[in-house]
Amino acid sequence: MSYNNSHDLCSNLNQEQDSEFTQLTDKAVSRRGFLTGAGALGLGAFIGMSPIANSVQAAIQTQVKSTLIGFEPIASSTADTVVVPKGYKLTSLISWGDPIFEGAPEFDPTGRAPASAQALQFGDNTDGMSLFPLSSDRAVLAVNNEYTNTDLLYDHKGDMMTADDVLKAQNAHGVSVFEIQQTAQGWVVDRSGKLNRRITANTPMQLTGPAAGHDLLKTAADQTGREVLGTFNNCANGETPWGTYLTCEENFHKYFGTEDEAHSIPAEQKRYGLKAVDKRYQWSKFDQRFDLAKNPNEPNRHGWVVEIDPMDPESKPLKRTALGRFKHENAALMVDDSGHVVVYLGDDERGENLYKFVSKGKYDANDQSRNRDLLVDGTLYVAKFSADHGELKGKGEWLELTFGKNGLTPENGFNSQAEVLIHTRLAATQVGGTTMDRPEWVAVHPNKSSACCTLTNNKHRGKKEDQPVGGPNPRAENKYGQIVRWTPMNGDHTAAEFSWDLFLIAGNPSIHQAGLLAGSSNITTENMFNSPDGLGFDKGGRLWIMTDGKYSNADDFAGMGNNQMLCADPETGEIHRFLTGPIASEVTGLTFSPDQKSMFVGIQDPGEKGKPSHFPAGGDSKPRSTIVVITREDGGVIGA
Ligand code: FEO
Ligand code: CA
Ligand code: CA
Repeated sequence: MSYNNSHDLCSNLNQEQDSEFTQLTDKAVSRRGFLTGAGALGLGAFIGMSPIANSVQAAIQTQVKSTLIGFEPIASSTADTVVVPKGYKLTSLISWGDPIFEGAPEFDPTGRAPASAQALQFGDNTDGMSLFPLSSDRAVLAVNNEYTNTDLLYDHKGDMMTADDVLKAQNAHGVSVFEIQQTAQGWVVDRSGKLNRRITANTPMQLTGPAAGHDLLKTAADQTGREVLGTFNNCANGETPWGTYLTCEENFHKYFGTEDEAHSIPAEQKRYGLKAVDKRYQWSKFDQRFDLAKNPNEPNRHGWVVEIDPMDPESKPLKRTALGRFKHENAALMVDDSGHVVVYLGDDERGENLYKFVSKGKYDANDQSRNRDLLVDGTLYVAKFSADHGELKGKGEWLELTFGKNGLTPENGFNSQAEVLIHTRLAATQVGGTTMDRPEWVAVHPNKSSACCTLTNNKHRGKKEDQPVGGPNPRAENKYGQIVRWTPMNGDHTAAEFSWDLFLIAGNPSIHQAGLLAGSSNITTENMFNSPDGLGFDKGGRLWIMTDGKYSNADDFAGMGNNQMLCADPETGEIHRFLTGPIASEVTGLTFSPDQKSMFVGIQDPGEKGKPSHFPAGGDSKPRSTIVVITREDGGVIGA
């Protein structure tokens, strides 16, 4: 089989012919054993013939050479460091607790620093981020600080919480915005930057869109239902062509609790995982805003996408209710050829859904001020996937989440569009959205042809009644994850219909010689990984995949090593390992300088759960979440 055949099969979803790339493998066929046989018999004889196609494709894979990817892939690693390919180098930009203002206190590793210090420092657990250029060698970086590790934040590890400890955690959450400058030593933070700003769990924000002002968003402190304090558990991100940053509120439910045993949590809130018991963050004990009995509506004011203007440190962040309320992972925004803004959104929970927002208004490249309200009003949809039996590809449709349509009516508990949006998960279930294997990041190809979403893993698949095996979720008790890719009908991202396939199925071909646990044909013993999570295209069309999975390097995960970053060619399907993270870290957060010669990557929670990491300083130092900057020794484009 030629290179071109392989190319066509992987890239053209609309072709009528079967894609062996997406066909099921026969568990009875030995994947490794068959490679030899396929070679001996001539590869061409087997193309398109299920069930052996996976093995055949894997053999071809080694012969394809991507023209997009130019680096030598690296081996898996269990070292307590960041490893990059030959010819690449890295520097550390900023770590949790580093000052982002002049005169702010330096990081204190004792865990005894006050909340006031953290308010002036980079927050904890770096996640999604975007770079906004100011000039060719200067930019402002907006970075999510997702959560805190209680055992690292406090000397008492959370056992003797005080009100100031709660405030310190709240100040370590949210978003850090700061200016960076490229120097002879690489990119550095400019603590004197006029745009430097900390947005925390207490920063005043405004609710906008159809749900703003609804009774369910009103609290004792805010009778308008429009003024909210703060954002927290900001997972991944998005950015708009009008220069704003989108930060996504994910596991907001973990910050609420109550000791009032008489308080009962309504079903609508239970759907988001809200519980009375809060042993981890303990905010409700010292800040009654987080006490469910005292402020039962406060959780409804979180779980949104927030739009921030990084160029105006005085601006009020805006919560965009039109994009729905769930455990938002990221917000992949694109301008469709029609001019409408389309935002793809994942809800990261086992058995939750994939969404799409389409703006009512149209983008105007000639008048950016007119674009500022595009995320206020539009239509939200949830994805429904269908597949022919045994196929790992198929069709899909976007089901509208609009009050009065698709059963979103008072008879079914929905009394307004505001309620549809505040209870987005219930609405998705009502209309029949497909329950997914934890939708994490979505990325849209720069040529707008397709989009992908990481489905990280799902131990409930095939176990819970509402999560049957099938379609884009093909494995029971899915431990490795997969990436689903869709192509909108006629290239129109506002269209109701799409076709889909699986770009990859992660697996371990050294432990499982055949079947879906071995992974798709583009997974090899050289590039294997589990739990794809972060995802992004660069300008050249390379797909960068970051992982947040098991790093035991044993049993089903043997040979995978630490969490990592991979680079894929969306045309050939090739995947090469680009970076490995330190011990017990997640690799998450990705952005580039405009010339694509500097790559910013987040290393989150090294040494989580007491694991022995001392990244980045080494020795006996406390592990700290850190952003690293990767460049090429020859100054070239990253990945090329
Ligand atoms: Fe914050 Fe779903 O990762
Ligand atoms: Ca994530
Ligand atoms: Ca994850």
